[in-house]
Order: sequence, then C-alpha cells, then structure tokens
Amino acid sequence: MNLFLTGATGFLGGELLVTLSKRSDIKKIYCLVRAKSVDEANKRLIHVFDLHGDFYQPEKIIPIVGNLSDDDLTSTLNSHKELHSINLIVHSAANTSFSKNCDDLIKKVNINGLENILNWAKDLKHLNTFLYIGTATICGKDIKNKVIREEESPNSNAHHLVTYTYTKMIGEMMLSKYLPEEKILVVRPSIIMGDSKNKIPRSSVILWTLAAFNYLRLIPVNPLSKIDIIPVDYAAEAITDLLLVKRNYDVYHISAGVDSSTNSELCTRKIESYFPEKPAHQFVNRKLANNMRFWAKGRMEDIGELAKYDKHLHYWESILGEKSRLRILFAGLEPYFDFIELGQIFDNSRLLHDVSLPKPKPAHEYIINNIEFLESIDIYEGALDP
Ligand SMILES: NC(=O)c1ccc[n+]([C@@H]2O[C@H](COP(=O)([O-])OP(=O)(O)OC[C@H]3O[C@@H](n4cnc5c(N)ncnc54)[C@H](OP(=O)(O)O)[C@@H]3O)[C@@H](O)[C@H]2O)c1
Repeated sequence: MNLFLTGATGFLGGELLVTLSKRSDIKKIYCLVRAKSVDEANKRLIHVFDLHGDFYQPEKIIPIVGNLSDDDLTSTLNSHKELHSINLIVHSAANTSFSKNCDDLIKKVNINGLENILNWAKDLKHLNTFLYIGTATICGKDIKNKVIREEESPNSNAHHLVTYTYTKMIGEMMLSKYLPEEKILVVRPSIIMGDSKNKIPRSSVILWTLAAFNYLRLIPVNPLSKIDIIPVDYAAEAITDLLLVKRNYDVYHISAGVDSSTNSELCTRKIESYFPEKPAHQFVNRKLANNMRFWAKGRMEDIGELAKYDKHLHYWESILGEKSRLRILFAGLEPYFDFIELGQIFDNSRLLHDVSLPKPKPAHEYIINNIEFLESIDIYEGALDP
C-alpha cells in the first residue's frame, strides 16, 4: 500500500512517519513538506529519523513539496502522477497555535488547507482510507469534569476556548462532503505531551508548560483537575494500528481515559525531587492570577492575598530578572490553565477494544523519562507561540 502523510515534520507527524515506515505492508510514504526545494524537503524528513537514530529508507520516504495554504495545492498534487496510486492518506498537518494573533492563518491552514487536500483525495481511484487527525478538545469548553465519549462530538453549538479547536471541529465536519463514509477514519488524540521512551521528545509542544510549572513553582490552577495526557509514541502506535486493523468504528479517541488520567499535582510532585534547589510547588486559586499580573507590573499595593506566598515571590524575583517577564509566561500559559480546569477525560474504550495495545502509562509515570529535556526547554519561546 502507498500512503500520503501531511505534517511529517511535526511532533505527532514525525513519530507517525517513523512508526509507519517500519510497517512492511506500507510500500511508499509520500510526505507533504513545506520547503523551497525537494532537496530541502528531503533533509527535513531525514532529520526526523536522525533525531532518535531511527532507520531511514530513502526509497520508501518521498517528499512532495507543498504548503496547505497554497491555493493551487490541489492542482500541484494532481500533477504528481506517482500520487495516483495512493491507498491511504494520513492528514496530520495543522496550525496548532493557541494564539489569537494567528486566527486567520489557523483557519486558512486547518480549513482551506484541508479542503485543498480533500479536493485532490476525492478523485483518487485507489483510496481506501482518509485518516483525519482531529482533536478530542473539539468538544469545546461547556463540558466540564466529565468523561466524554466519541459520539458527543462534533457539536456545532460547542463554544471553543481557542480558534484552533474550532477549526479542527469544522475540518472533521467537512470530511463527509468530499468522501464516502466508509473511507473516513477520524482519530481524536487528547493532549499529547512528551515521550514515554527514554528519548528526547521530538518536540517541546505542550511539555513546555510542565517546564514552565517547574520553573515558576507557584501556579494558579486547580491541582486536582483531571487531565487526559498521552505520550507521543503511544499516540503514533495507536493511530498506526487503527489505520491498518479491522475497525468497529469510524471515530476514536486516542486518550488516557479514566484509568490513565493525571493531574497537575501528580505530575509536578513527580518531578519535584529532581530539582531540590527550587521551592516546593504551590497551587493557588485561579483568581490569584490577576494578583500575579499586578505583582509583575510592580503594583505591590494590589497583590492582596498573594503577599502570603512571600517565599515564592522572592524566588520569582531571583529567577525572572525582570518581574515583567512573568506576564509573557502568563500570556502563553493562560489557555493551558483554561484547558486544565475543564477537567475533561476522553473515554478510550473503543480504542482499547479494537487495537492490541495496553493502556497508556499515566503522564506522572512516564514523565520522568523526559526530565533531562525539561530543563533545556525555552519556556519563553513556548509562551510566545503557545
Ligand atoms: N500535540 C497535541 O497535543 C495534539 C493533540 C490532539 C490533536 N493533535 C493534532 O495532531 C496533529 C499534529 O499535531 P502536532 O502536535 O504534531 O503539531 P505540530 O508539531 O505543530 O506539527 C504541525 C505539522 O503541520 C505542518 N504544517 C503546518 N502548517 C502547514 C502548512 N501551511 N502547510 C503544510 N504543512 C503545515 C508543520 O510543518 P512545518 O514543520 O513546516 O511547520 C508540521 O509538520 C494536528 O492535526 C493536531 O491538531 C495534536
């Protein structure tokens, strides 16, 4: 079988590329890559393999230069005769930013870009499956502290915390306008963070927030709010298996579910002992986030109840250099605080029934494998492009 993959240079897409390349039933993997030339695209794909020392097969991995936001992407893809034999498409590419500044680009890439791919895919004679990587968070912000099942989404009345999840929902709803139902497979990962193997994760996406929690130590979020987190290697294994097994459903959560969920308290306590020089993690009511902003502006008369955490405030003064840097971190962390406090867990019984994988390890168990990497993450970079 021949496969077309988008997003192969990304966090999940890279892991998928390596996992899929190990399957002998997949003959060729054509990857849509943003680049100025085929040579540059090739180098970007080789880098994905080099990162973990994975075996790269040049005859199997073939770059196709293209950009989802190019209006002529459909005709570019049509012009590649070698792509006429595609049997499987895995659409992982997306603009995953939570930043409001990127809203127009997010819509262009995640909605118009998907449309470009679908317009090409609909005419492929040998296409068996179009796998759309969605996100479990398309359920929106109205459902709180609940185990959510696949059939509860998409709900076009859902309210979204960020444009990204809205566009992923619209994308999912668009699929059936272009393709017959039997060709559509939707997987909805929950939150993908780090790698459960003792390897540097392919990206610090999401993990930068744990690095920021570890840095700040005084955090305005409910520590017991349940969070559904999975490692990227588990996500890639599960998605690859689903693509190739006999399935009972056409939509699956790729998630930790009830048994493997975690919370901020469990994750931070787990890493705390590796950094004995820092003060213990202290979680405070979300309302104090405002007082923290006043502190960052030097408005000490407005910090109210925050004053009693003087040990942490002194620590902040010693690490931040300039108090105002806290505002940069908070601007990036804010949507993550919102997501954490939703307390959403995504039921994974469909997945566990249809693939032969064990339950994922909870984040507070596997995260110690990423400890070394945690300290090298540039949290300001993460905060500027959350
Ligand atoms: N990470 C999570 O926690 C999570 C959770 C649920 C669902 N998902 C879904 O999983 C998928 C992969 O996410 P990820 O974490 O791997 O994201 P990522 O690390 O940000 O990677 C995004 C990928 O999309 C590509 N891309 C972005 N804009 C593009 C464009 N205009 N044209 C072509 N390619 C473009 C990027 O290419 P460049 O390298 O050129 O930028 C990169 O390969 C997404 O569909 C996302 O919605 C992720």
